[in-house]
Amino acid sequence: MKLTDFDEEETEEEETLEDKLKDKDLQEVAEMIANCERCRLHENRTNTVPGEGPEDAAIMLIGEGPGENEDEQGRPFVGSAGKKLDECLEKAGINREKVFISNAVKCRAPENRDPYRDELRACHPYTKRIVEIIDPKAIGLLGRVPTKRFLGKESITKVRGEKIEKNGRTYIPMFHPAALRYKASREEQLVKDLRTLLEQI
Ligand code: URA
Repeated sequence: MKLTDFDEEETEEEETLEDKLKDKDLQEVAEMIANCERCRLHENRTNTVPGEGPEDAAIMLIGEGPGENEDEQGRPFVGSAGKKLDECLEKAGINREKVFISNAVKCRAPENRDPYRDELRACHPYTKRIVEIIDPKAIGLLGRVPTKRFLGKESITKVRGEKIEKNGRTYIPMFHPAALRYKASREEQLVKDLRTLLEQI
């Protein structure tokens, strides 16, 4: 029996989905996501947001999930958090167009609530396959939700900026750009962590 990243036993259905995803390219994964009804988040979506960026990106960023603007446009980080992210990427000397950006869940959660554990788990095989296809040198986890999902770490403030190796990949947890509005110093920290990400490539 295979284990998920959360060290839970994989269900047969999860194993079947992972098998189906194994030979799929980005376009095919995006199509599967567009037709996905594995969790309740499909009920209210306008568009799915599988992610975007070059297939050979050395850096990948994983956020939490689409908000209102992302749901409308089917693209990640195009609203106010996206504007903040763009500013921070620029300060860190990273060209957004060279980064592949995705999210832990690909459909908007009602009222922008945090995605539930079962929703995160339902979407994870897609994210895993996208990571496999992109095969980035380093992955920035934006905020608590993807940090918990990928690394099982509860506290973003404790681990942010740390380079963490897991399953042969390098992850760096960092603040979510929407969290910067609560504390000015967080912006400097996000820029610093993005620079660390850039140093990995
Ligand atoms: N917040 C996220 O976590 N992801 C997005 O795509 C937009 C806002």
